[in-house]
Amino acid sequence: MSIDTRAIETHSTDNRRFKPSPEFSARARIGTLERFNEMYRESLDSPETFYKRETAELVFRKPWSALSEWKPPFAKWFLGAELNASESCLDKHLKTARRDAPAIVWESEPGETRTLTYAELHARVVELAAALRELGAKKGDRIAIYMGMVPEVVVGMLACARIGAPHTVVFGGFAAESLRDRINDCQARFVLTQDGAYRRGGVVPLKATVDQALEATPTVEKVLVYRRLGQALAPITMKPGRDLDWVETTKNAKASLGEAPEIVDAEHPLFILYTSGSTGKPKGVLHTTAGYLTGAHITSKYVFDLRDDDVYFCTADVGWVTGHSYIVYGPLSNGATCLLYEGAPNFPDWGRFWNIIQKHKVTILYTAPTAIRAFIRQGTEWPAKYDLSSLRLLGSVGEPINPEAWMWYHENIGRGRCPIVDTWWQTETGSIMLTTLPGVHATQPGATGFPFFGVEPEVVGADGKAVGKGQGGLLILRRPWPSMLRTVWGDDARYEKQYFSEIPGSYFTGDGANVDADGYYHVVGRIDDVLNVAGHRIGTAEIESALVSHRAVAEAAAVGRPDELKGQALVAFVTLKPGNEPGDAMKKALAEHVAQEIGKFARPDDIRFAEGLPKTRSGKIMRRLLKDVAAGREAQGDISTLEDLNVLAKLRGQDE
Ligand code: PRX
Repeated sequence: MSIDTRAIETHSTDNRRFKPSPEFSARARIGTLERFNEMYRESLDSPETFYKRETAELVFRKPWSALSEWKPPFAKWFLGAELNASESCLDKHLKTARRDAPAIVWESEPGETRTLTYAELHARVVELAAALRELGAKKGDRIAIYMGMVPEVVVGMLACARIGAPHTVVFGGFAAESLRDRINDCQARFVLTQDGAYRRGGVVPLKATVDQALEATPTVEKVLVYRRLGQALAPITMKPGRDLDWVETTKNAKASLGEAPEIVDAEHPLFILYTSGSTGKPKGVLHTTAGYLTGAHITSKYVFDLRDDDVYFCTADVGWVTGHSYIVYGPLSNGATCLLYEGAPNFPDWGRFWNIIQKHKVTILYTAPTAIRAFIRQGTEWPAKYDLSSLRLLGSVGEPINPEAWMWYHENIGRGRCPIVDTWWQTETGSIMLTTLPGVHATQPGATGFPFFGVEPEVVGADGKAVGKGQGGLLILRRPWPSMLRTVWGDDARYEKQYFSEIPGSYFTGDGANVDADGYYHVVGRIDDVLNVAGHRIGTAEIESALVSHRAVAEAAAVGRPDELKGQALVAFVTLKPGNEPGDAMKKALAEHVAQEIGKFARPDDIRFAEGLPKTRSGKIMRRLLKDVAAGREAQGDISTLEDLNVLAKLRGQDE
């Protein structure tokens, strides 16, 4: 892994502190620093006691005989326990007053509302589980889900969990090629999809993309299609023998077949979620049942301070891990009411989120810095038009939040009243690792906070030794935690190399961080070859392999450059094969090619043609230099191994 540690030194220093109000703390699940510290110590020193108490609200059919086993790099948690995740998210609530409370309040892009109580959500899940079982789906089968933000996607995930079939949700913005690779990598037998999804007033033809992907997916047997839009808006062709109508199939299935949840071992795979890494091939991050559920449950409960009267709105897409942990498993296992919004934040205008908050009296909002920065651009008049007084807590996730965005969020959305939790975590960690607790800690714009229960982070140098306060270094996690990934699907070697070889024995996050004098963690961002573009995680190697698959491209290197709106923007340096003309037409063609190969969100923001790329004498592309060129900086550091200094001069010349 090539690590650029220079980035870690650039961190925000903001000395403003905002304490939770005494009223907030008094009502919070954890309201004092003493209690937090006590629980944190307990989670590390007596984890058995801690997790026994903290998992008491989850349904275990059989208790565990040992809390964990750590044979680096492989961890197991809750050994011997048996459960089904859907019971903790659904059945458990049927015996309480939550039964008739809304589990999902769905707002469609055009503005309709549909509410599913816990009893109704349970019924839908049981129906779908029955249908899947009738089709022959069984424990261990992988099921791919390629859908938009409709209640059925949650039903789909929980139905998979109910029958013990790990789901792999593929974000609806991915192109056919990416969907196909993911389906093939995990050898899915079934696909759940919908005809089309609304996005910014237009229609995203999801089923048509599935058809394209399925041209070369030998393992897929059946496709269940939820007709969200209907034939007039989203025309589809159903392939006889393969494609089935979701509603018809579930109606015809014998519901009793879906009643009994498949009781699985604690370590049974719950889902695989593909994410970008430092090679061209996305990794299937594997999460297992009991540990993941525990992490999602406990963090939701304490970080979002969830209570029965909350209306909780997480704006992430279920195609990303935030949607898995903080729309589905975490909030539902806590019996929360989740607002699910189908469409774009700026449809029909930039007031949409604020309108939703006013209309549904949302109390907790969890969103991403890139969204906040987009709102800032549109001006404070948008949120100012709406009554946001129902809000009591705000959250941020996905990338570092710059102090300016933090303050804007605090003042214009939180109206100075609401604590902001800046939550750091990853697809791999499964649940929030670093944060403040809203009733406990003073917040600091731009600082994430402290380790959550059971988490033991450290900031170290390349030698694995802790660096001093205020100094930048690599963020690692010293000990395993329940919701950690268990492996990369089908590739234990990659799992070990990626996460446990940099600092042997510890989990390497790929992020740079520093800890300030008061112990607050500041996570600066990726220091490996992974970019975070508008909250989307993209591996530079994936972009490069998409580019070189174009017939005109000889070589490509993709790097990030700081971007005010997106956090990072994607810049691609390309050398063309002889006989191809660089120019705007080629740029357009290459950008379109990347959109076709990966998805529109991965289109480079800037493509630059070069006669050669800067390389070391051994032929390695020097990305460090390209990053400097992309950012318009003078090249820093050692360039003595550069093969041809001329190349660099020429690349820079393009800036002028
Ligand atoms: O670089 C960190 C950044 O997002 C990466 C994880 O991306 P992904 O797996 O897609 O998950 C995103 C949602 C959890 C991290 O390695 N990141 C996430 N949250 C923060 C963050 N960086 C700084 N502050 C955060 N709060």
